[in-house]
Parts: sequence; structure tokens; C-alpha cells
Amino acid sequence: MKNKHEPLEKHVGWFFIATIAAISIGGLVEITPLFFQKETTTPVDNLRPYTALELEGRDIYIREGCHTCHSQMIRPFRAETERYGHYSVAGEHVWEHPFLWGSKRTGPDLARVGGRYSDDWHRVHLIDPRAVVPESNMPSFKWLEEDLLDGELTGKKMETFNLLTKNRGHKNEQGEYIPLYSAEDIAGAKKAVAGKKEMDALIAYLQSLGHALK
Ligand code: HEC
Repeated sequence: MKNKHEPLEKHVGWFFIATIAAISIGGLVEITPLFFQKETTTPVDNLRPYTALELEGRDIYIREGCHTCHSQMIRPFRAETERYGHYSVAGEHVWEHPFLWGSKRTGPDLARVGGRYSDDWHRVHLIDPRAVVPESNMPSFKWLEEDLLDGELTGKKMETFNLLTKNRGHKNEQGEYIPLYSAEDIAGAKKAVAGKKEMDALIAYLQSLGHALK
């Protein structure tokens, strides 16, 4: 019996074109509806911007590569929701730049780790993971306990976040868009973090994770 695919499989040019067409249609079907779904761009009710200290903590999280071992995205499967809590929704992440969803889970997902442990637990764990989880292969981050923040750029980071989240659903009672961070927040940013330990900033960030949807 003649294989109907044969002409296609024997002509690399046609095969290439057909592959591109198939991928494009599949991609469009998946992506296009997202542009029209309001819940992908509207923040969930309890979402609040990161404080100055949490914002610095987030940058430390990125700098230290925590996202290479930890995801921040709970998939809507029972095995995940029983372990981590409510699955992640787009409205929790509308102000995230860049997203830290990740895909590699050497360690557990951290999307809802906020409030699960005390600040002291995190401190001990980040200095010496094996002190609290004997079988852990997470590296130690003990220098965070010594390095201090100067806050020189914290206000600038807030301004950048304001720019990136413009017209992205932070509204006042009149329904007008207002910046995530006020002029006061920005002016007070340096004072809020200068002299604090990087460890405290990172822990503040971890404790904020998942705050909007418990
Ligand atoms: C090389 C991979 C790796 C890196 C990098 C890493 N971790 Fe982990 N992490 C793990 C593993 C494995 C566990 C599970 C064992 C444990 O609790 O120590 C874990 C556990 C955790 C937990 C406890 C989660 C829970 O629900 O019990 C937190 C919080 C955490 N890591 C935060 C961080 C932070 C913050 C960073 C960056 C400063 C980081 N990790 C970097 C591998 C990693």
C-alpha cells in the first residue's frame, strides 16, 4: 500500500514548510485566546506590590540562582495542590518582571512558601541547609548573613517597575491606573533597606511568596 506521507517525507522543502505550518497553527491556537482573557492581565484581589526590602530580596534570589533549582508555579494537578496549595494563577504574576516560574525542581516549588516556616527557620536553612534537613543537597548561602544592602538603587528599581506595569491593572477607587509605587515609596526606599542584611531581604521576599492567594 502506498504511504500517503511518502511524497512529503521525501521532499525536505515541503516537509519543512508543512512542519512550520503545523507548529504555527498549534501555537496560534494556544496563544491567541490569552490576549483576550481578562484574568491573564488583571491582578487578583489581594495582590500588593513588593515592599522595598522584598524587592531587594527578589534580586538576591535571582542573583544567587535560586530559580535554577526552584520553580514558582504550581500546576493544577492534585499531586501538586495537595503538596503546595492552590495552583498558581496568572493574576498573581501580572506585575512580575521577569517571571520566576522556572521549570526545574531540584528543590520544592516555592510559589506558596510564604508563612510556611518562621524567619529563623529560613535563616538557619540558608546558612546550613543540612542543619534542618539532613538529606538536603541545597548549597549554603551563608554570605547573605554578612553582606549588607546599601539601597542605592532600590528607588530606581521601583521606578522601573512602575514603567513596566503601566496600564496593568493597579487601580484606585475611581478606576484610574496609578503607579505601583508612589513618590513617597520611592523617596523612602533607600532608608527602608540601607544597612539591612541581604539575608533579611531574601527572607522577607520568601515570606511574601503566595500572599495573594492562600
Ligand atoms: C542546587 C539546587 C538548589 C539551589 C541553587 C537552591 N536550592 Fe533551595 N532547596 C533545594 C533542595 C534540594 C531542597 C529540599 C531540601 C531542603 O529543604 O533543604 C530545597 C529547599 C528549599 C526551601 C524549603 C522549601 C520547602 O517547602 O520545604 C527553601 C525555602 C529554599 N530551598 C530556598 C532557596 C533559596 C532562597 C535559594 C537561593 C538563595 C535556594 N533555595 C537555592 C535545592 C536548591
